Amino acid sequence: MTRHFLSNLTGSFAMPAMENPTVAMIEAAYRHHNLDWRYINCEVSPENLKDAVLGARAMGWAGFNCSIPHKVAVIEHLDGLGRSAEIIGAVNTIVRNDKGEYIGENTDGRGFVNALTEVTDPQEAKVVLFGAGGAARAVAVEMAFAGVATITVVNRSRERGEALTRLIGDKTPATADFKIWNGCLSLPADTDIVINATSIGLYPDTEQQLDINWETLTADMVVADGIHNPPITPLIRTAQEKGCKCVNGQQMLVSQGALGVHYWTGLEVDTEVMHNALREIFNPA
Ligand SMILES: NC(=O)c1ccc[n+]([C@@H]2O[C@H](COP(=O)([O-])OP(=O)(O)OC[C@H]3O[C@@H](n4cnc5c(N)ncnc54)[C@H](OP(=O)(O)O)[C@@H]3O)[C@@H](O)[C@H]2O)c1
Repeated sequence: MTRHFLSNLTGSFAMPAMENPTVAMIEAAYRHHNLDWRYINCEVSPENLKDAVLGARAMGWAGFNCSIPHKVAVIEHLDGLGRSAEIIGAVNTIVRNDKGEYIGENTDGRGFVNALTEVTDPQEAKVVLFGAGGAARAVAVEMAFAGVATITVVNRSRERGEALTRLIGDKTPATADFKIWNGCLSLPADTDIVINATSIGLYPDTEQQLDINWETLTADMVVADGIHNPPITPLIRTAQEKGCKCVNGQQMLVSQGALGVHYWTGLEVDTEVMHNALREIFNPA
């Protein structure tokens, strides 16, 4: 019998990389599905990004993730972009196609939409989106292509908020408006989905809460938070107390990881295995 010792390689380029939980989640999926695949977590500085991508090409990696600070900078080292990555202007998943080209995709937004559609149908929904950074751009573009009617962008800095509002209006089927966030914000009564795509609530500032008039949050609204560490943020806690259906950032992280594995291997991964890997990291017994 001939045995093979050459694994298929994937991984992540980021800086810092030390606390990235994706490696545990994806290697758990590879093991569970008996795939001879590896996911290598690499710390890559901005000045080494070009060489790292060349290295991945030279070694025939099937693909890789890029995280902070490489999501935009990596684009010039790739051979092309998928449709939503092009509109978002950022890439988090690189996929080698059958011609050997490395194509940039963005699974942040689609992972979010997949997690959200497990609790609600986004068709014709009215969305209030807090934030206008990279995560908010990805979420807004994919929510728009998933069929939401309107997105109200709420952001502290006017410039970034207005830029995202224009992007939604110009490049997607949804309509958008902007509200500056410079005090306690009241949610319109007809809001269907409330999304936090800011970094408020992220470890170590785990008690930080969004400045919202909580009387305007009602049980018929769905609340989604992009923060994955911790999964239960003050926003999710408040929403649960109000009786809202919720989606947390860990569900989003698993969904976007599952999309990456699907891009690379063609496999529909068992997401419960990935959830369990994250639970062991973030909520050890
Ligand atoms: N779960 C997942 O799979 C996943 C994927 C991607 C990202 N994320 C999470 O999403 C979050 C945002 O990431 P990003 O890449 O979009 O970051 P970013 O580009 O730096 O944007 C940060 C956003 O948060 C706002 N913000 C930060 N602190 C604030 C405060 N104290 N008050 C009001 N607004 C505040 C910023 O407003 P200004 O424009 O006014 O500065 C901006 O809109 C991160 O925590 C990240 O962990 C999760």
